[in-house]
Amino acid sequence: MIIGKSVSLIYDTKAILNEVDFIISNNKKIGVVGRNGCGKTSFFKIINGVEAVTAGNINIEGEKLAYLPQEFDFPDMLVGEYMESKLENSWDIYKIDMLIEELKFKNYDEYQKISLLSEGQKMKLKLMELLLADPTTLFIDEPTNHLDIEGIMWFEEYLKRLNKTVVMISHDRSFLNHTVDEIWEIENTKIFAFVGDYDNYKTEKLKLIDKWDEEYKRFLIKKAQMEKLIANARKITDGKKRGRAVESAKKRYEREVTRKAKEKYVIKKIGDIEFDTDVRGRKLMLRFDNVTKKYEKNTVFTDLSFEVRGGERIWLFGPNGAGKSTLVKLIMGDEKVTKGEVKLGENINVGYFAQKQTHLDYEKNIFDQFLAETQCDYNKAFGILKRFLFSGDDLKKRIKNLSPGERSRFAFAIFAFKDYDMLILDEPTNHY
Ligand SMILES: Nc1ncnc2c1ncn2[C@@H]1O[C@H](COP(=O)(O)OP(=O)(O)OP(=O)(O)O)[C@@H](O)[C@H]1O
Ligand SMILES: [Mg+2]
Repeated sequence: MIIGKSVSLIYDTKAILNEVDFIISNNKKIGVVGRNGCGKTSFFKIINGVEAVTAGNINIEGEKLAYLPQEFDFPDMLVGEYMESKLENSWDIYKIDMLIEELKFKNYDEYQKISLLSEGQKMKLKLMELLLADPTTLFIDEPTNHLDIEGIMWFEEYLKRLNKTVVMISHDRSFLNHTVDEIWEIENTKIFAFVGDYDNYKTEKLKLIDKWDEEYKRFLIKKAQMEKLIANARKITDGKKRGRAVESAKKRYEREVTRKAKEKYVIKKIGDIEFDTDVRGRKLMLRFDNVTKKYEKNTVFTDLSFEVRGGERIWLFGPNGAGKSTLVKLIMGDEKVTKGEVKLGENINVGYFAQKQTHLDYEKNIFDQFLAETQCDYNKAFGILKRFLFSGDDLKKRIKNLSPGERSRFAFAIFAFKDYDMLILDEPTNHY
């Protein structure tokens, strides 16, 4: 069991958590949700000792924690070499074979370079590493980001049978519906716990919002009454009586309004995004003519032909390693065809929104980076960034301190500024 008492976390001056209490009971499966930047990853970091709490305490006695972060790297090593380096005792090498079996790690090859594994395989490898230490509680940040559909189905089954406490951050509703018994939402520095699956949480949350709206309405009525009370007291003609009445009305105001002040519950939404394009009708955007693509011996496509026309929306999917990225690279001209031809329509400006925002300068702050990338005028930049929910102190935040979801939202603000005619989006919803 993990018990948090009056836990607060503040970065610089921004409060992420404010005096929250929580209990993670044994064998519970908990899903943690909340808007990008609300503090989900930070919550995991303070429990796992990666960040220190600003106040309060977290008791984890008798538990062995394992933490699978949202973003992770591996050293330049072979798969087997890496796993063996993680063994505490070389006699335990049989554990690796057990885990390969347990995690259904198909084509586990100890002589393969880790860098050549698919995202899904990398995640399994990381999970294997964590499980080697036999933890009692697993903290997993956005597991489905790394997995294809088949991988997600495997992971759901795996979790159902797993006899451990699991706390997971995820934005994948169907995945949460299939795996957890509680949903915890982090919002405005507090944690709200809902027993049940994701659908249940949605219904309960709406009820809660209705309740907050009611409370807010009642507060406004109370406030108006108290203001009237003060106004009436001021009208009393007898000076002595007036003084006392005003004094007492003000005290009531302080007690019943100021101290119980409520704010209206609002959900901030990103403003509408428009891409300014001259492309009209069913203009030809892109054509593949009998394209064959090989990497040495590995053939990715043979004689692939298709057309994309204006206004079409296409979903590109396939298992890890099927060639989705290669197709994109051929379109963007980052890879050459082995045979055939790739043709873009006349004057078509293609924008590619990558899965990872590696092109950003992590040391720069939001505002400067936006100006540098767009050469946009100062005032306009304020407006656009505000539409993407960055304003006030946010503008001074450095890119390296943004959460992945915030970073991706920021990158999209730049992307949207560029008025492309055709958009290629790589897993754009991974963080939302
Ligand atoms: N080291 C830091 N210094 C300053 N601010 C930080 C730091 N780390 C995180 N933040 C800010 O704290 C907030 C919470 O970040 P966190 O990574 O916990 O969010 P999150 O809920 O996990 O978001 P996402 O859904 O995008 O992963 C964000 O606004 C982020 O910009
Ligand atoms: Mg996060």
